[in-house]
Amino acid sequence: MSANASTPAAHRVAPPPAAPSDKELVLKVIPMPADTNGNGDIFGGWVMAQVDLAGSVIPARVIRGRMATVAVKEFVFKQPVRVGDILSFYSSVTRIGRTSITVDVEVFAERFRSQGEFVKVTEALVTYVAIDDDGKPKEIPR
Ligand SMILES: CC(C)(COP(=O)(O)OP(=O)(O)OC[C@H]1O[C@@H](n2cnc3c(N)ncnc32)[C@H](O)[C@@H]1OP(=O)(O)O)[C@@H](O)C(=O)NCCC(=O)NCCS
Repeated sequence: MSANASTPAAHRVAPPPAAPSDKELVLKVIPMPADTNGNGDIFGGWVMAQVDLAGSVIPARVIRGRMATVAVKEFVFKQPVRVGDILSFYSSVTRIGRTSITVDVEVFAERFRSQGEFVKVTEALVTYVAIDDDGKPKEIPR
């Protein structure tokens, strides 16, 4: 008989949530005390900047030149990010248009002393546009 079969449902421990397997790990970073807000949690704007950096990794490989962030849709922070968390940024392409690429970036925290358990802290769709020397949109090479 397995341990779960003999354990009351209320006492069963759920397996730790895993990181997504259908996305590429594009950035890992540990926030520092300098990145905190007045509550002692990590400042949302700092997380957004990391998402912009992480999101640019796959588009950079495709565009192979200058690009600019044109849009971000939408940040929701349901769980705080804390000093000492290991943040992992996972990305996948959702659309490649004529001049733009959109990626879906998911951010997970492994809490201090709970490494291996991934808590999703936010997600955003970020769109990057390939630009020429004058800063105008240009076609993405195929
Ligand atoms: C990025 C920029 C060059 C685009 O020029 P533009 O004339 O506005 O672009 P267009 O309307 O021709 O659209 C270009 C592409 O962006 C996409 N795009 C434009 N606005 C968008 C939006 N709100 N959401 C998603 N995609 C958008 C278009 O669909 C198009 O993609 P496609 O060719 O793959 O279909 C220009 O807006 C710019 O310089 N913005 C400032 C960028 C910047 O400084 N970013 C950092 C902010 S701090």
